[in-house]
Amino acid sequence: MRAHPAGPRHGEIPADHTSFVPADLNELDPAVWPRGAGRSGGVMTLAGNDVRDLAMTYGTPFLAMDEQDFRSRCQDFADAFGSAADVHYAAKAFLSSHIVKWLAQEGLSLDVCSGGELRLALRAGFPPEQIALHGSNKSQVELETAVEAGVGAIVVDSFDEIGRLAGIADARGSAGSASTSNGSSRRIPVMIRVTVGVEAHTHEFIATAHEDQKFGFSLAGGDAAEGVRRIAAAPGLELIGLHSHIGSQIFDPSGFEVSAHRLVLLLKSVIADHPELAQTITTLDLGGGLGIAYTSADTPPPVDAMAKSLTAIVERECQAAGLVVPRIAVEPGRAIVGPGTVTVYEIGTIKDVHLDGGVVRRYVSVDGGMSDNIRTALYDADYTVVLASRSSAALPVRSRVVGKHCESGDIVVRDCYLPADLAVGDLVAVAATGAYCYAMASNYNRLPRPPLIAVTGGTSRLLLRRETDDDLMLLETW
Ligand code: LLP
Repeated sequence: MRAHPAGPRHGEIPADHTSFVPADLNELDPAVWPRGAGRSGGVMTLAGNDVRDLAMTYGTPFLAMDEQDFRSRCQDFADAFGSAADVHYAAKAFLSSHIVKWLAQEGLSLDVCSGGELRLALRAGFPPEQIALHGSNKSQVELETAVEAGVGAIVVDSFDEIGRLAGIADARGSAGSASTSNGSSRRIPVMIRVTVGVEAHTHEFIATAHEDQKFGFSLAGGDAAEGVRRIAAAPGLELIGLHSHIGSQIFDPSGFEVSAHRLVLLLKSVIADHPELAQTITTLDLGGGLGIAYTSADTPPPVDAMAKSLTAIVERECQAAGLVVPRIAVEPGRAIVGPGTVTVYEIGTIKDVHLDGGVVRRYVSVDGGMSDNIRTALYDADYTVVLASRSSAALPVRSRVVGKHCESGDIVVRDCYLPADLAVGDLVAVAATGAYCYAMASNYNRLPRPPLIAVTGGTSRLLLRRETDDDLMLLETW
């Protein structure tokens, strides 16, 4: 079993970390690489751009996002879930002003989980009523900013927050200004995040096992029912939905099904206790977490199959419970932005290390590392890497791609095969780095964050420029 990349078990390191020898080292598995990736004359092309040209223009390392890949995955979700559902892109996976605009053009909604994400979305012109604010410890200022902007939902996560939000509503009401900056007068729309007792992992889910974490209101412990009671008792709050999020990089739909089932049962009991909420609770939000293929060994379920099964289960359970079928909401981040981006590095050093039993492991050092992709070090994540600046017919060599940081855990791709003639100055590309790589990047060892470019139709442009030394110096007080 692969360690889960986001939950409390992410620290587990599988004992046997194997990788297979690819039949063709030059092949780009379409399940792993961006939809616009290919090779021309042996050289990797990204949406018609030669990676060597991109490296000349932008320097290395850089992240290249295939704009059509991103947009088409937005459409895939919208088509799969249809008009009876809302697809919220989870900004935490990666956000920039351009992404915000693309999402608006593609008709998706947006989830943010901090004031920073919220302010970027608003500044880039995203419609506030299409934004939901998440977070397990939202500050007073974050809540006030969201209320003032008129966001579509605040997903409450604690009793403290319900009290805080009720206070904000009261203050606005008593000041005679329970209206948003866009002029509408309404109660503050909230959802409640419910811990449904499902812990989902890539290849497993463990029902009833996951109460011991910071998010949400426990269903089993009765906190969810109490949270609903407190929201219902607050005149300035309007409960518009029940929310759950069971994990990330999930391949097994059964975790979502259990979660949907439990949310419907909760909805039924909530409406029995508070009949007036039947009018306001219009949404069951099943969260994000749909997995992607980082390597050819990964087999995530297709989006439309997942959508069909979730829609069917909510409809069936609601009909059985005598409830009006609510809208479904989902919050994919990784599945939209992950697969369409690659990171391109230049090789700086190559070192053969002799292990026990005559085994050689080739350490291939690139000009980035754990500062632009912490996921391998943090979650033991697997990635696919290929020689990008040319093809090679040389034999495969067991290799490890490492960064330039001062620690041995600075690993980008733990186990891979690269051609024996790999040389200093070659470019390598790592697939599926769109989600949680740039978003979790750091300046460790004072490395500047790399640029992130968009590629489309044979052209490229900067979405985020490379960080400079001057940017970092700006923080110094001297
Ligand atoms: N909705 C909620 C409430 C979430 O907490 C998350 C992710 C998502 C949606 C989006 O999940 P996605 O579809 O992207 O899996 N840093 C980790 C992932 C952390 C995910 C946290 N929450 C990683 O690199 O794998």
